[in-house]
Amino acid sequence: MILVFLTTVLAVYICKYYWTHRKLFLHAWSIPGPLALPLLGNLVNFRTWKTALFKDYLSFYLRYGGIYRIWAGHNLLVVITDPDMAETLFNLKAEVFPKPVFFDFFSVMFGQSIFFQGDYSAWKKHRKVLNRVFQTGPMTKLIPHLHEKVLDYSERLMTVPCIQRVDKMLYPWQCDVITHTLFGLKFKPTEIDLICYVNKQFFKLFRESIKSVLTQIKCLERFTAFQSKKTILETVTKMGMVNFFVTGHSDHRDSTLDDIKLADLQEELGEAHLDELGLFNIAGIETLTTAFSAVIFLLSMHPEVQAKVYDELISIIGEDFHKKPSLSELENLKYLDMVIKESLRLYPPAYVAPRRATEDIHIGEFTIPKGASILINVAGIHRQPQYYSQPDKFIPERFSPEEYINRPRNCFVPFGIGPRKCIGQKFALLHMKTAFSVLIRRFEFLPSEKYERIEDCLTAFRFVIEFKHGCFVKFRPRV
Ligand code: HEM
Repeated sequence: MILVFLTTVLAVYICKYYWTHRKLFLHAWSIPGPLALPLLGNLVNFRTWKTALFKDYLSFYLRYGGIYRIWAGHNLLVVITDPDMAETLFNLKAEVFPKPVFFDFFSVMFGQSIFFQGDYSAWKKHRKVLNRVFQTGPMTKLIPHLHEKVLDYSERLMTVPCIQRVDKMLYPWQCDVITHTLFGLKFKPTEIDLICYVNKQFFKLFRESIKSVLTQIKCLERFTAFQSKKTILETVTKMGMVNFFVTGHSDHRDSTLDDIKLADLQEELGEAHLDELGLFNIAGIETLTTAFSAVIFLLSMHPEVQAKVYDELISIIGEDFHKKPSLSELENLKYLDMVIKESLRLYPPAYVAPRRATEDIHIGEFTIPKGASILINVAGIHRQPQYYSQPDKFIPERFSPEEYINRPRNCFVPFGIGPRKCIGQKFALLHMKTAFSVLIRRFEFLPSEKYERIEDCLTAFRFVIEFKHGCFVKFRPRV
């Protein structure tokens, strides 16, 4: 009797759910994609929860084309790999685009920051204030400071064993660069290590939240052990951030730096200031660590390319890496620029640009229904064979002016495009060029015994692309 009653209640609940969301299912049906089970959707398509879930999701374009849908439980995800559709979506007004539901995990921590902000006017206000830190003028003034940072770092590299797990080793350095150069706060190495530890714990939990089938069923989330772990970590992390970034104002402020820094914007941003600091801390460090690791790894596997970058550096800046490079010298490093672009094509740290449709969006012959999550598949766009012959190969010459001009601009989007494109793009490129101008003159990067071919170094699609089993490279001092 009880069983019959429960089954009836469940059936009524399911029917009601499908009826209320009928428009969503109708439009979703017209978008290509794999067959899905009721409630579980395509979650069964994935081999084990340990494999990189998103990598599987994102490679479906090889079968279904430039737009396809998948069901993560009852959440509809529409994946866009067609560059023209991606451009249209990137350029749509920001107010139609909060982040997808599975990013709600971040809201408690960084909900008011520009990346996770769904309210257009709040986003616009913040972006305007924050833009002041990232204007070209103040950015170029950072070259001497960034140069000092890499000199100091390369000095430390001289004292460590020659086989390096570069991704691990770069992380605290990027944390030091971001918090000092952009925030204006100077932390001790032990404090940097602590910030990095908190960041890593936070992401570990984020991965769990994505993988956990139960969290796909929202109403059950609050009963799972995951939820209590999440609450604990949220509290610890928030406290950690408050300690570091709020007390940091008085204890850690570096008064020798001029220009506006993120730590100076407290008055204008109010309470949300902490969310911004937290976001820039994670967004900046994670992306830069992957971007730097990829360049070092690819150069170690391609000695002929590394030799060309080295020769260019010597001919434009000279042998003395202690001498600060000028902006025009950095701008003239055309081959290094091509190498960085090609690395970002193969390993775009932010491999998807996530969105949430708050109204129906008509695109080509399809309608992306209101409520759907949208993943603009940056990594997939970058490997389209019709734009990049031998798409998995590292060929920096693809970005020579002659080749670049013949390719549509929207098939290279590592920093996104449109109103919500990466605010840190100029900083990231300036930092990379300044740093590599020193590192490549000071060290030769050689392949480690761990990986014979590029393909052996597997990637994992987490918050950013990461190197699944580490990115190993040997460093040999040149002098
Ligand atoms: C190589 C390094 C980097 C890459 C490849 C990268 C890539 C991206 C991408 C693809 C987006 C999303 C665009 C979208 O959703 O449409 C983004 C947004 C963002 N990035 Fe970066 N990023 C990098 C470095 C940085 C750094 C160093 C910072 C700051 C310290 C930063 C801060 C942000 C912020 C705050 C946003 C959100 C912008 C908004 O929604 O208005 N990024 N980035």
